[in-house]
Amino acid sequence: MHLESIGLHNFKNYESLNVAFSPEINCFIGKNGSGKTNLLDAIHYLCITRSAFNPQDNQCTLHGEDFFSLKGKMNLGERISTIVCGMQIGKKKLIKLDDKPYKKASEHLGKFPVVLIAPNDTDVIRNGSEDRRKFFDAIIAQTSQVYLNQLINYNHVLKQRNGLLKQFADRDYFDAALLQQYTDQLIDLGGKIHSQRKSFIQAFKPIVEHHYAQLSEESEPIDLLYESDFDQDIAALFKQNIKKDIILKRTNVGIHKDDYPFMMEGELIKKFGSQGQQKSYLIALKLANFDYINTETGSKPLLLLDDIFDKLDDFRITKLMEMVASDAFGQIFVTDARPERSHKIFDTIGHEVKFFEMEGGKVVS
Ligand SMILES: Nc1ncnc2c1ncn2[C@@H]1O[C@H](COP(=O)(O)OP(=O)(O)O)[C@@H](O)[C@H]1O
Ligand SMILES: [Mg+2]
Repeated sequence: MHLESIGLHNFKNYESLNVAFSPEINCFIGKNGSGKTNLLDAIHYLCITRSAFNPQDNQCTLHGEDFFSLKGKMNLGERISTIVCGMQIGKKKLIKLDDKPYKKASEHLGKFPVVLIAPNDTDVIRNGSEDRRKFFDAIIAQTSQVYLNQLINYNHVLKQRNGLLKQFADRDYFDAALLQQYTDQLIDLGGKIHSQRKSFIQAFKPIVEHHYAQLSEESEPIDLLYESDFDQDIAALFKQNIKKDIILKRTNVGIHKDDYPFMMEGELIKKFGSQGQQKSYLIALKLANFDYINTETGSKPLLLLDDIFDKLDDFRITKLMEMVASDAFGQIFVTDARPERSHKIFDTIGHEVKFFEMEGGKVVS
């Protein structure tokens, strides 16, 4: 699978842009602010139906405009698929595959997998559990529509249960039987999600360990854990928490509280890991993300590498470039502010590389 071409209209700093890509390596060169990351993000958007950087779609619309559209031609070997994403402020976004609109954007997820490595972004390590759940959910969901639908349903029921708890407080009443109906649904759906997360982590962990060992010069042991309320007697836990739920007007146990502690030598890496170790862990996670999707779906995700030459040291860059040279990846998109550096790195790698020089929302050569 590779992206043959992309068209952007009113997307971020691009008024109108059409480019054709190399099936191997594409390198976006240009000064800071020229739109390199925005172009990577447009590719991300086409694959995942959302930006990797902006949580709200209207932030992706060129300032002063009220809509954007993206069009990508994806070469799947035996045929070419056309993806179109359109967003008008105040309206539901429209995603079409080969001219057929999806009912829900989530149906698109997993068809065109993508992995973005932006090594500055260690949020998934440093932030709270929500970022880690999102990170892993995105990987599992890209390989399982069943999982994605269960997760959507769980979140829907969770919202209803929380709404009911608020109603109890606002209207000063309590209906144990009604609350239990929602609790039972959460236990049922949560149980299914829990067992998938558990088996996912079992398969995923050794891949992370492998990449970490490759990327770090030292070989400190790392670990990837999975912690869930569902490891315990979940029905009893829900019962114990009813009072707390009522007081706080929200559900305090469930898979929406799961966490995946990232460990090194028995300690949390976010507390005790050096910056270099955290970076290695992050990249190991991303490379494992790539491998896992490749194994599960049989196709290599598009790989987006944002400013890695600035942010990684020579050792880690060399390791990554060894992987590029050894055909570990499929199509790659890289950004770099320094053309001479990218030329030097890619000229010796033995792959077709196409350079795009960007300036102010345009490709100038
Ligand atoms: N919605 C938007 N409308 C117009 N310009 C935008 C929008 N979002 C971001 N930009 C502009 O895009 C530029 C940043 O582009 P970016 O792709 O991050 O640059 P680079 O990666 O080349 O440093 C900034 O000048 C920013 O103001
Ligand atoms: Mg950038």
